[in-house]
Amino acid sequence: MVGRQLRRGPRRAHHAPDRTLDPPRPAPSLARRARAPSMKLLILGATGTIGRELVHGALERGHPVTAQTRQGQPGFPAGVTPAVFDPASTPDIFCPHLRGHDAVIYALGFRGRAPVRFFSETTRSLLAAMQAMGVRRLVAITGVGAGETRGHGGFLYEHLIYPFFTQAIYADKDRQEELIRASDTDWTILRPAPFRSAPGREPFHVLTDVRTGTRLSRVTPPEVARVSLDCAEKGLHRGEAVFFGHGVAG
Ligand SMILES: NC(=O)c1ccc[n+]([C@@H]2O[C@H](COP(=O)([O-])OP(=O)(O)OC[C@H]3O[C@@H](n4cnc5c(N)ncnc54)[C@H](OP(=O)(O)O)[C@@H]3O)[C@@H](O)[C@H]2O)c1
Repeated sequence: MVGRQLRRGPRRAHHAPDRTLDPPRPAPSLARRARAPSMKLLILGATGTIGRELVHGALERGHPVTAQTRQGQPGFPAGVTPAVFDPASTPDIFCPHLRGHDAVIYALGFRGRAPVRFFSETTRSLLAAMQAMGVRRLVAITGVGAGETRGHGGFLYEHLIYPFFTQAIYADKDRQEELIRASDTDWTILRPAPFRSAPGREPFHVLTDVRTGTRLSRVTPPEVARVSLDCAEKGLHRGEAVFFGHGVAG
């Protein structure tokens, strides 16, 4: 499904910061033969818009999945191991759920009231637990509005969504990113553009350098899952913060 969407979408631009972009995907039969070794993934926020795509994408790629949720009856697909816990409950909540995992993908969102410390507090607990349990690989989804991506999400995002809805969240995502950068995990920070159901006509960019004039205003949930899983399984963008989506790279 992901491959189909991307083949229909516009071609991706190739320039210096896009150095780790994957080539276009091979036909499914070849893709299956070229599969990466399976890895046991803990997906945090697995019932969310991105979490659900991650769960399906990871299963399609043949990875065993543990899917975190607070919900007792999440309805995950067969083969998924549910991990039912509130990530914000106590600092040591993550430890037992990390045992035996190769990588964590952080796709938690926050529905609740400001002031928001959810992202930094859950990340602080997670990082300590990863260290204690010897799990090193972390792919953390933060988003456009974090760090130097602020002001680069397109007109609607910058004039409506960010100032009126997500500003407090992104102040905490900045704290979250600082904690991740200071950790000794093997981390990748992913900052997707605003989510849309369709990719639109503009090219897809994966940027580690946000230049003047850059504007990435849309990315689809399957695209976010594909980039996240590529980073987890192929070790792409280690120690980097990556801004990606459709739009203009300055
Ligand atoms: N929307 C955008 O355009 C956009 C763009 C870039 C980045 N992002 C970021 O990408 C990430 C993933 O987005 P998403 O839309 O997939 O997230 P989401 O659906 O809003 O949330 C993901 C999961 O987080 C859990 N959650 C929500 N509030 C919680 C709370 N107060 N305490 C504990 N768990 C809570 C929920 O799982 P359970 O209820 O099952 O526990 C939820 O299904 C988010 O951090 C979002 O800010 C969003």
